[in-house]
Amino acid sequence: MRVLFLGDIVGEAGRKTVRRAVPVLREERQLDLVIANAENIAGGSGMTPKIYAQLRRSGVDACTMGDHIYKKREIIPVLVRDEPICKPANFPPEAPGRDHMIVQTKDGTSVAVISVLGRIFMRPVDCPLAALDRVLSELDKSIKVILVDVHAEATSEKQVIFRYLVGRVSAVVGTHTHVPTADATVASPGTAFISDLGMTGPYESIIGRRIDKVIKTTKTFEPFPFDVATGDPRLSGAIIDIDEVTGRARSIEPIHLDKAAIDIMAGPAATDA
Ligand SMILES: [Fe+2]
Ligand SMILES: [Fe+2]
Repeated sequence: MRVLFLGDIVGEAGRKTVRRAVPVLREERQLDLVIANAENIAGGSGMTPKIYAQLRRSGVDACTMGDHIYKKREIIPVLVRDEPICKPANFPPEAPGRDHMIVQTKDGTSVAVISVLGRIFMRPVDCPLAALDRVLSELDKSIKVILVDVHAEATSEKQVIFRYLVGRVSAVVGTHTHVPTADATVASPGTAFISDLGMTGPYESIIGRRIDKVIKTTKTFEPFPFDVATGDPRLSGAIIDIDEVTGRARSIEPIHLDKAAIDIMAGPAATDA
C-alpha cells in the first residue's frame, strides 16, 4: 500500500495547495491513504470544525496535530468524537482527544496512526517512548501497518524515537520544524523514517509566517502579530510504500511540489478560484 504523509499544513496557502494537489496525487500515484499534520491549518495555529471538514473533502483521510492542537477551542468537540484526528499520545489523559486512531483503506486494511510530542525545546510532556510503548501494547495484534508522527524540534530526538521503534512500526515521520530534511531512509526489517516532512504552505516566509513581521520583532522585541504568509506555496511530504501483510515499509520517497509543478499536474491555478 502507498501512503502519502504531508508535513504541517499552514494557513490558506497550505489548504489551497492540498485541495489542488491531493486529489490528483491520489489518482496519479495510486495512493491508498493520505495523512497530514494539520496543527497550523487555521490561520497558522490550530484547526476549526469547518476546516477539518474541508480537509477531509480534499482527500485527506486522517490528521495528526501537535503543540498548537487546542489553539482554536472549537475543534475540541471534533477531537472527542470518533473522527480520524488525534492528540499527541504523551499529553495528559485529561487533555481532550484520543491518543491514536485506526483508519481503514478502501481495501479494508486497518492502519494505526499515533502522534507524540518531543520534549526538547517544547512544553513539558510525558516521555514519548513510554507513551508509544503504552499505545503499541494496546493495539489489536491484527493491525500491522502503524505510522508514527514525531512532532518535535530536535532531529536527535526524532532519531531516538525512530531507532526505538525500528521493527515495531511501519514508519516514523517528523513534523513541527516546517523544514524538509534530506535523510529519508528505511531501516531493516522495514521501518521508514524522515526527520521532517517539511511544511505544506507558503515558503516565502519564516516557517510559514510573514518575513517582515518576524524580522521586526527579532530586532525590536516588539510583539508584532506573526501573520501567515502567502508566497511560494508548496506541498511537502513523503510517499511510503508498505507491505500491508507484514506492515514493513519497502521505500520512502520525499515529495516536494511547488506551484509550477502543481499547475502542470492539476491544471492552471486560475481554474481553481
Ligand atoms: Fe508544532
Ligand atoms: Fe507546525
